[in-house]
Amino acid sequence: MFHHVDHPIIRERLTQIRSVDSETPAFRHALHDVAQMMCFSVTANLETKSIEVETPLTKTQGYGLAHRVVLVPILRAGVGMMNGFTEILTEASVGYIGLYRDEETLQPHAYYCKLPDHTAESDVILIDPMLATGGSAADAADELKKAGANRIRFVCLIAAPEGVAAFEARHPDIPIYSAALDEKLNENAYIFPGLGDAGDRYFGT
Ligand code: PRP
Ligand code: URA
Repeated sequence: MFHHVDHPIIRERLTQIRSVDSETPAFRHALHDVAQMMCFSVTANLETKSIEVETPLTKTQGYGLAHRVVLVPILRAGVGMMNGFTEILTEASVGYIGLYRDEETLQPHAYYCKLPDHTAESDVILIDPMLATGGSAADAADELKKAGANRIRFVCLIAAPEGVAAFEARHPDIPIYSAALDEKLNENAYIFPGLGDAGDRYFGT
């Protein structure tokens, strides 16, 4: 299921992110802000459990998250959205999956995977700003499932229709949350109009 996460301030920050005039500092700030704002929609249906809390006056019912949360940014560019989530999900653990897309074949190549031991029983949030062909995110989701995860959600900043279709074909059980659904992939499989190369712009490379 595709969820468009929309908000006036997300739209405004996304415009800064897209702009060719935004240098790395502005790009970083805006990407962080969007991630933080998206966190609320992405986690809106997390299960909670009742806990008792003692106020200065009395005992009453409170709530905690029913399951631990594991955040998994896809290296490199997923790192740019991570702190926006950890600032809200302060107890979350973090795992990393490293993938790069071969420029010629467009196939993702995995080079790193380090996931917390409790990934299988956690709510897992997979993060990458770009869903282009969908290969990287779908391979990363395969890794999460191999580790036993079965409550996974995927968050991106911009998705291409082709990437949404490819991801949903391989992982119909994983909801996609995106701040934008762009027009198409261009002839180089870049999202159009998109923002260019997310990793290069975020890391200033
Ligand atoms: C970008 C992006 C995604 C991937 C999306 O990473 O961050 O991981 O491309 O493309 P896909 O949907 O067609 O697989 P890239 O491969 O450029 O690696 P990098 O983050 O290390 O620059
Ligand atoms: N990776 C990016 O960083 N940008 C795109 O548009 C496609 C893949």
